[in-house]
Amino acid sequence: MSVENLPRTIWWEESKVYLLDETRLPLTGDVLVCATYEGLIMAIQSLAVRGAPALGAAGALGVALWCVTEGAAFEAVEAEYLQRCAQVCEELSQARPTAVNLGWGVTQMHDLIEAQAASAENLSPQQLADVIIAAAEELCAADEAANRRLAANGAALFDKPTNFLTHCNAGSLATVFYGTAVGVIYTAADQGNVEHVWVDETRPINQGARLTSWELLQAGIPSTLIADSMAAAVMHEGWVDAVIVGADRICANGDVANKIGTYGLSILAKEHKIPFYIAAPVSTFDQKLSDGTQIVIEERDHRELEGVTVSGRFDATTPEMQRALEAVCNSEDSQLAMAQGHVMEIQRKGGGFAFDAWFKTTPTYVQSFNPAFDVTPAANITAFITERGVIYPDADGYQKSIAAALG
Ligand code: MRU
Repeated sequence: MSVENLPRTIWWEESKVYLLDETRLPLTGDVLVCATYEGLIMAIQSLAVRGAPALGAAGALGVALWCVTEGAAFEAVEAEYLQRCAQVCEELSQARPTAVNLGWGVTQMHDLIEAQAASAENLSPQQLADVIIAAAEELCAADEAANRRLAANGAALFDKPTNFLTHCNAGSLATVFYGTAVGVIYTAADQGNVEHVWVDETRPINQGARLTSWELLQAGIPSTLIADSMAAAVMHEGWVDAVIVGADRICANGDVANKIGTYGLSILAKEHKIPFYIAAPVSTFDQKLSDGTQIVIEERDHRELEGVTVSGRFDATTPEMQRALEAVCNSEDSQLAMAQGHVMEIQRKGGGFAFDAWFKTTPTYVQSFNPAFDVTPAANITAFITERGVIYPDADGYQKSIAAALG
């Protein structure tokens, strides 16, 4: 058992973007193939690929995907090409609004396209696509390298077996490979400094229960799953030495957007005098936003909160069943309404039929609110762990130390 055996999340192959469908983990390890940038946007919005650093990679690969598809059909890299490219980059960046890495990954590629168009004469769309593919693959490789450096910097903070608590999934599955907050735990474990990991379930869609606990089991690290509401009691017992989580956007003053529930955890950690660490690569820092009030918080489909989704597969065992399932998949609306507001969606996938059945568990007219992230004030954060080192606040907070670290 080792972290090195975990699956990679996203990669480029044969002019397409391949990604591990995390909506189906840990039940199945389906791989989605995106042949167009629009398909990749759907994968981003459904959370098939998720986690800020992995979204950065998706953004970069999405631009490459446009370059080899729609972009390659242009005759030349001229005004019309660049205008359409800018539109596509905007669409990709806006696919999810909170994690800054998505727009960052897109911008890296867009800036390169603009620079190439300005400097190279008679560059064909195909030649430009080759440059962008190479750059996007390099960005993916750099993500893993940054995570491993970050993890080494973080692990150095722990010199004895430590009990960690983490929230959501900031592991290998949230990055191209290795992870940020959970990456620190992997490296600390290699050094004999992990006693135990408490894994917050992370309602409403359970990235902790489904993904983090799965990763830790694969890596052979002892962990215990808890419901989010249990964290206070576990801390009160004295069973947590450090809280470590990832981030989706870090403002100039150190305020952090991360998965909903992170803010509450930071308050609990403060109350129980437990250090609270944010582990994130420098691509997650957004110097353009002065503080957390400026962060756009994504609000997601209320069905995530008002019911449960069960995903699985039908394998047609008779010709009749095959025909019936084909008919559903080929119909305009592949969502079947079931009793009491329950819905089942069926899609063809590989040789079989994947289904997602959503069961409403709340009253029909219930009102709900489903923000995907919250903002943790800088004052609740002990330190930021990055690939460039650990950032501590000075007497005035984080403003200056973050600016100095980012250079
Ligand atoms: O909605 P998600 O699953 O994309 O949210 C992910 C998180 O909030 C992570 O903690 C964050 O992106 C850091 S991942 C290293």
